[in-house]
Amino acid sequence: MSQRSLHLNLFLFACGHHKAAWRAPDSCADQLGNIAYYESVAQMAERGKLDAIFLADGHSADHIEDGPRWFLEPLTALAAIGRATEHIGLIGTLSSTFCTPFHAARMLASLDHISRGRMGWNVVTSMFDAEARNHGYEAMPDHAQRYARAEEFVSVVKALWDSWDTNALLCDRQGPYADPARVHAIKHQGAYFRVDGPLTVPRPPQGRPVLFQAGASPQGRALAARHAEAIYAVAHDLPAAQAYYRDIKQRVKAAGRSEPVPILPGLVTYVASTQAEARAKQQALDALLPVQSSLRQLEGFIFQDCQGWALDAPVPPLPALEDFSGPKGRYATILRIIETEQPTLRQLLGRLAAGGGHCTVVGTPDQIADHIEHWFLNEGADGFNLMPPSLPGSLDDFIEQVIPILQDRGLFRRAYQGHTLRSHLGLG
Ligand SMILES: Cc1cc2nc3c(=O)[nH]c(=O)nc-3n(C[C@H](O)[C@H](O)[C@H](O)COP(=O)(O)O)c2cc1C
Repeated sequence: MSQRSLHLNLFLFACGHHKAAWRAPDSCADQLGNIAYYESVAQMAERGKLDAIFLADGHSADHIEDGPRWFLEPLTALAAIGRATEHIGLIGTLSSTFCTPFHAARMLASLDHISRGRMGWNVVTSMFDAEARNHGYEAMPDHAQRYARAEEFVSVVKALWDSWDTNALLCDRQGPYADPARVHAIKHQGAYFRVDGPLTVPRPPQGRPVLFQAGASPQGRALAARHAEAIYAVAHDLPAAQAYYRDIKQRVKAAGRSEPVPILPGLVTYVASTQAEARAKQQALDALLPVQSSLRQLEGFIFQDCQGWALDAPVPPLPALEDFSGPKGRYATILRIIETEQPTLRQLLGRLAAGGGHCTVVGTPDQIADHIEHWFLNEGADGFNLMPPSLPGSLDDFIEQVIPILQDRGLFRRAYQGHTLRSHLGLG
C-alpha cells in the first residue's frame, strides 16, 4: 500500500444521482421510506471498504413531480444505518443557517456515541428561498451573512464538544458520576448566538465528529480552510480539479494547519466490461428522461430557446463565456462538456441529469481505475465522492469491478485498519 491512501466516500442519494433513475422499472422508488434500503446500500459500501457514506439534505419539497429528493431526515436515517453497519463512516448534513449550534453539537455527539466514533458532519449554509421560508425567513439571508453565521456556528459547536474533558466521566458508583471540574461552561456570546454550555452529552468517542464542507465561493473556501477536515468538490475535468485542489491546500497551509484535509471531488461512473456496454447503461438511463422538462432545465442554464433543436444532432454553438450574462459557473461547465465531449443534445441532457457539473467516466473497470489513479497522483484529488447514477446497480458495479483493481494497485485498503471515521481518513 502506498503511503498516501485513496479515500472513497459514497454519496447516497435517493435511487441514484441520475434524475431519471427512479423511473427505471426495477428502481427502489417505492422503498425510499424503508430504512432497510439504505442499510443494504450502506452494507454494500462497507463490503467495498469505503471510508464513509454521506447523506445530503435540503429543506423544501419543490419540483417533487420530477423525482425524489429528500425523504428521510439524514441524521435520523444515519442512527439506524449505524446500527446496521460496523466500520463505515457516517456523514450527515446539517445547516448552520437553520439549526442552532447546541442542537447540532448534541445530535452529532449522540450519533458519534451511537456509532462508536464514526460520525461526520457536512456543514452547509443552505441555498434556496423556499427552504428559508420554512424557517422564519422571507428569503435566504445573503451569502456573506450566511457564512458569518456559519463561522460562529462551527466555533460554538467545537467548543461544546470540547466542554467535556476526555476524562470527565468517572462513573464512580460510590462517588461522583462525573467530575464537575472537568466539565466546562463555554459562556459564548457572539453576533448570532448566546450559548452558556456545557453540552449535555459527554465527550464523543472521536473527540469531535469529523467536519466536512464544500466551499466554492471565496467565503466558502475560507471557511473550509479554517475548519474543514475533509472537503467535497465539484470538478468536471482535471485542470478544474487541480486549480481547486491547489487553492484549498494553499489556504489550509496559510491558515497554519498541517492536517491532510483530503479533497474529494464528485465522480459519476458507468462501469461495464466493455466501453460499449458502459455507454449502453448510460443511454438506457438517459432514455428515461422526460425530454421536455430536461430541455426546460437546460434553457434555464444557458438562456436559449432549445425547443427547435434536434435531439440527436450535435449541440449548436453557444455564445462564449464572456458574452453570457447569467450564472457563469454551470455555463462554463456546459461549454467545457460540449468542447471536450461534442455530445448530441440528448447526450448533453443525460450528462446534466447525472451529477450536473461533476466528473463523469464511462468505461471498463480498468479505465475507471486509471482515471482515479491519474487524478490521485496529479494533485486533482485525495479521493472521490462516488455518485452512482443508479442505486444499487451502479454502486455494485463499482464495488465488484473497480475496487479490486484499486486494491491490486496498492491504492485502496483491503481491510479497515481502525474503527473510527477519523482513522479511515488518516486524521488525528
Ligand atoms: C458534494 C456536495 C454536497 C453538498 N451537499 C449540500 C447539502 O446537502 N445541502 C446544501 O444545502 N448544500 C450542499 N452543498 C452545497 C455547498 O454546501 C455549497 O453551498 C456550494 O458548494 C456552493 O458554495 P458557496 O456557498 O461557497 O458558493 C453541497 C455541495 C457539494 C459539492
